Amino acid sequence: MATTAPNYSPGLEGVIAGISTISDIDVEASRLIYRGYDVHELAKQGSFEETAYLLLHGTLPTQTELDHFHQTLAGEYEVPDYIYDIFRATPKNAHPMDQLKVAVGALAPSDPDYSASPTDRDANLRKAVRMTAKMGNLVANGWRIAHDQEVVKPDGSLNIAQNFLYMLNGTKPEEFAWKAIDTSLVLYAEHGFNASTFAARVTVSSLSDIYSGVVSAIGTLKGNLHGGANEKAMEMLMEIGSVENAEPFIRDALTHKKKIMGFGHREYRISDSRAGIMGELGKEAARRSGNEKWAEIADICERVMKEEKNLFPNVDFPAAYAYYSLGVPIPLYTPIFAISRITGWCANMIEQLDDNRIMRPKSIYAGESLRDYVPIANRH
Ligand SMILES: CC(C)(COP(=O)(O)OP(=O)(O)OC[C@H]1O[C@@H](n2cnc3c(N)ncnc32)[C@H](O)[C@@H]1OP(=O)(O)O)[C@@H](O)C(=O)NCCC(=O)NCCS
Repeated sequence: MATTAPNYSPGLEGVIAGISTISDIDVEASRLIYRGYDVHELAKQGSFEETAYLLLHGTLPTQTELDHFHQTLAGEYEVPDYIYDIFRATPKNAHPMDQLKVAVGALAPSDPDYSASPTDRDANLRKAVRMTAKMGNLVANGWRIAHDQEVVKPDGSLNIAQNFLYMLNGTKPEEFAWKAIDTSLVLYAEHGFNASTFAARVTVSSLSDIYSGVVSAIGTLKGNLHGGANEKAMEMLMEIGSVENAEPFIRDALTHKKKIMGFGHREYRISDSRAGIMGELGKEAARRSGNEKWAEIADICERVMKEEKNLFPNVDFPAAYAYYSLGVPIPLYTPIFAISRITGWCANMIEQLDDNRIMRPKSIYAGESLRDYVPIANRH
């Protein structure tokens, strides 16, 4: 039974599965570009709404276009009340990513373009903007309802990052907090043919609709090897607990061949282009919170991982202690990733549908050779 073949690449490593104009990773330079712009410049000088516009429309907006885009988003922040009822009916132990998957699926029929053709580009762009606008509401109010709190309706004068914190906490966020979330949304927005984006592209390649693609993507992002790593990284930091325990903990975990969440990457070889900026944010957030322990523990983990495995932190590692220092509940870290990556998912699905061919790879058959059917009475 053959398990190798010239073109077989486990995990599809190195396989080229499409042509894209959305983002590119320069592995040598550890640089990530969105539509040609360095993500560092977008994170330092731009905003998430500008980034969302760029990913969906292909160009940076003028001020007038950005103002109009904000108005369009703000007009779509609200979700129908039946979505809150679904949250109320969902078992309280549901992970917020599972709540989100259900909610996005349930939103689809109330989209005004629900009956549009799945290949209608303009309708898909409108759906993308609607979903981008609503994600923060779904995550924040899903959490509130699961914790027996009243719904906080979105405020149209606030941007997506501000609104998320406002709906989550019920109070307007201070500038440092929402800007930190905004920057993290810029960094998380798009990253080539990663697992969740690929799942979204596979889904719409059958000419399913982009809401279904987002549901597939959310389910894929949830996994610990992908978006779920930011939550697991924080859980690990908490398990380490003290600066003194950091080095022995990591060395022991590596001895037992455990994977350290928030380290390594399929594409990058030297460093993750996004981790530096997120790390600066995390350290500043930790300093402001008055508890720099997590950042100190993180530094030790990074040093030991470099020494032992020559591995570097990916964006999820500093995101973990940045969000923690901002007071965000740990189960919402991966949903925040989704609030951002919805833009990349939608841009990719629209691009997929612009020149679609159904995704249908092959497998190597390693099962039994042809054999005779045995009538049930003759089986032992
Ligand atoms: C990102 C990731 C899934 C990439 O996976 P991949 O390209 O398939 O790489 P592999 O899992 O095959 O790892 C290659 C080698 O590096 C090691 N490695 C990779 N990431 C590691 C980690 N986080 N901790 C410990 N060892 C790690 C593997 O054990 C393996 O070593 P080996 O060859 O001695 O067996 C992987 O690095 C990982 O699981 N990281 C932790 C989860 C995470 O942070 N995900 C978020 C990514 S943005």
